Amino acid sequence: MNILVTGGTGFIGSHTVVELINAGHTATAVDNLVNSSEEAISRIEKITGKKVPFFKADLRDRDAMKKVMESSRFDCCMHFAGLKAVGESVVKPLEYYDNNLNGTLVLLEMLREYDVKSIIFSSSATVYGTPQFIPITEEHPKGECSNPYGKTKSMIEDILVDLNTADLKNGNEKPWNIVLLRYFNPIGAHSSGLLGENPSGIPNNLMPYITQVAVGKLHHLSVYGNDYETHDGTGVRDYIHVVDLAKGHVKALKAIEENWGVKVYNLGTGKGYSVLDIVNSFISENGVDVPYVICDRRPGDLAEYYSDPGKAEKELGWKAELDIKDMVRDSWNFQKNNPNGF
Ligand code: NAD
Ligand code: UD1
Repeated sequence: MNILVTGGTGFIGSHTVVELINAGHTATAVDNLVNSSEEAISRIEKITGKKVPFFKADLRDRDAMKKVMESSRFDCCMHFAGLKAVGESVVKPLEYYDNNLNGTLVLLEMLREYDVKSIIFSSSATVYGTPQFIPITEEHPKGECSNPYGKTKSMIEDILVDLNTADLKNGNEKPWNIVLLRYFNPIGAHSSGLLGENPSGIPNNLMPYITQVAVGKLHHLSVYGNDYETHDGTGVRDYIHVVDLAKGHVKALKAIEENWGVKVYNLGTGKGYSVLDIVNSFISENGVDVPYVICDRRPGDLAEYYSDPGKAEKELGWKAELDIKDMVRDSWNFQKNNPNGF
């Protein structure tokens, strides 16, 4: 298939372009580079040996987006573009609502105009809110999101479902195909060390913080709380290797090809690891030190959160294959080779 990838130079988008090409698809990337670099395209090309058309454009810029849409006949859009820093979204709600919601609305208008009514959306486990049960299945009701970032994910999911509902009500012969992929905690990097997570400023998330401590850019890791009801008192999450996540998108194309309407899938491993599990396996696998201090809990954090990824395995034939050792090794390999990102 021929895929339009928004946010194609970003962390998850760039790895997905690689996996799309590896699976025999073609991809065009669009990104405004607000949180990434065009260098990602050269690196994708180096890994795959294939040229990747790239447009530097903001999704909210209709004229620029028309040029993108006219450049090729796309079969599907994978929509990664968005702002994603939870803390920043609390401070700058208007910017987050504008970028994530208006960006998506313009994109959807364009897709409709050019008759590309198939989209795979980067959603997040954050839409479940405080879990009522664990592991979290797709049947778990959506919950209250505590920050504007999470709210944009939940709202965009609703907007997409409404598009399909409207088509069904109107008896449209070709209703929208929508896949909502709810990611758990993506970490890791491409095994080549050429692509990885490249956050601007001080990282908020655990793995980029660890790698920056290990490389000497940050002094120590603050472990947010060791008094949770978990096996070692620190928070437990479902970390997933970004390459597995990328492959999940390729597998999700089955739902598009076969016109399944609206589908929702968790992308996680189903296994929970604590902060100290991650720190200790990073140290033992990579042979580098990660000094840390135990601090107070971070407001809004949950003790334990992991997926039941069984639906994606049953329906899409997708299952995470890489384990925690692969994740910590590849994260470090990327940071080591790119101490200042790219
Ligand atoms: P990222 O910041 O690396 O990639 C997002 C890309 O979108 C960036 O390259 C950025 O420049 C681009 N972008 C932002 N606004 C844009 C706009 N208006 N027009 C064009 N391009 C724009 O983030 P990522 O980790 O690769 O995340 C990809 C998607 O997955 C995001 O939608 C994110 O919310 C979602 N997600 C990420 C995580 C995670 O932990 N990384 C978890 C759940 C969901
Ligand atoms: C956060 C976001 C979530 C988003 C996800 C992936 C919040 C409340 N949630 O999830 O919406 O989808 O990132 O981008 O921000 N930790 C430390 N020290 C650190 C950083 C983290 O101990 O410096 C701990 C946290 O307390 C948590 C675990 O590491 O237990 C993972 O944290 P993080 O990587 O920020 O992800 P989440 O909080 O799960």
